[in-house]
Amino acid sequence: MKLVSVVGARPQFIKASPLSRELRLRHQEILVHTGQHYDHGMSDVFFEELGIPAPEYHLGIGSATHGAQTGAMLAAVEAVLQKESPEAVIVYGDTNSTLAGALAAAKLHLPVAHVEAGLRSFNRRMPEEINRVLTDHLSTWLFAPSEVARRQLAQEGISRGVHVVGDLMVDALRLHGARAAARPEALTRHGLGAGAYYLATVHRAENTDDADTLRRILGALGALDKPVALPLHPRTQKRVAELGIKIDGNVRVLAPQGYLDMLALQRGAACILTDSGGIQKEAYHLRVPCVTLRDETEWVETVAAGWNTMAGAEPERILAAVARRAGPDAPHPDLYGDGMTARRIVEILA
Ligand code: UD1
Repeated sequence: MKLVSVVGARPQFIKASPLSRELRLRHQEILVHTGQHYDHGMSDVFFEELGIPAPEYHLGIGSATHGAQTGAMLAAVEAVLQKESPEAVIVYGDTNSTLAGALAAAKLHLPVAHVEAGLRSFNRRMPEEINRVLTDHLSTWLFAPSEVARRQLAQEGISRGVHVVGDLMVDALRLHGARAAARPEALTRHGLGAGAYYLATVHRAENTDDADTLRRILGALGALDKPVALPLHPRTQKRVAELGIKIDGNVRVLAPQGYLDMLALQRGAACILTDSGGIQKEAYHLRVPCVTLRDETEWVETVAAGWNTMAGAEPERILAAVARRAGPDAPHPDLYGDGMTARRIVEILA
């Protein structure tokens, strides 16, 4: 088969790594990078570390308002699809690159395979929720990570083409986790000792756009009882500078990290505080308790298992959740598959 895969943002590079590898064993894959993430630390480092093949097309779209960014991607992906005439198009997750890829394909009557289908926050104010709902309704194959995701699709009337296959991030952890474990310098270069710090990330528009929300979250990090390593997404860096927020001394601001250093930092943390989707799952797989800086999550299984607590942006809730975090001996059921998701997806597509 000949397939086009569309990626553009950091978490999509991580998910594409195991699937590209499996696909290219027997099939032809054309990789399209929209350019949504373009800095070396947000993009190139993932291709280098994860051995992802260089994209056949780099669309160089970059940042803009949602409509302008998604529209520019739609036009540019359409041109690639017309030129390449693939049998199907693969899109990942919930970014503007996902929606643009799916819409361009569907309008050309090309079947769409959506990896990470069926996730819902039920919050339509998040751009990601709009992207995932629309992409699911445009897709021919819906690769769901869990039974919960399958049920959510059924509630929207989608049952055809739905396959529960697990999560490609587990495959990525299996493939690359050992290399990350052998990187003590990921901690020591920032003066961090294993188990003696917290790791935090903040990048969601819902947390960065409102000045008070961002101030409350960063204030809570500053009030924690251990040093906090905070690899800062460019969106958040810009907001902190614009708003002139002073980040407290026990918070160490780091540049965005590569995949291997980020895994090493997660593994060594006493607790992770994040608004990222992927990090909630990685924390779970690495058996590190997680406090989610949002009021809802798509990864509800990690909350039900007791390893993830929703704390929103309220400092008292955040501090209390960190204090009451799961201990190392808490029950830890298997979630999101066995690391063979890429193989399953390729078999189904073939
Ligand atoms: C996007 C996704 C989100 C995902 C996240 C992972 C959408 C709507 N959101 O949000 O689902 O969790 O990626 O990181 O698609 N920027 C840079 N350099 C870069 C990339 C971005 O400076 O390499 C800046 C941009 O100029 C922009 C801001 O960061 O001002 C946000 O970029 P955007 O493309 O909106 O996506 P994310 O916030 O990263």
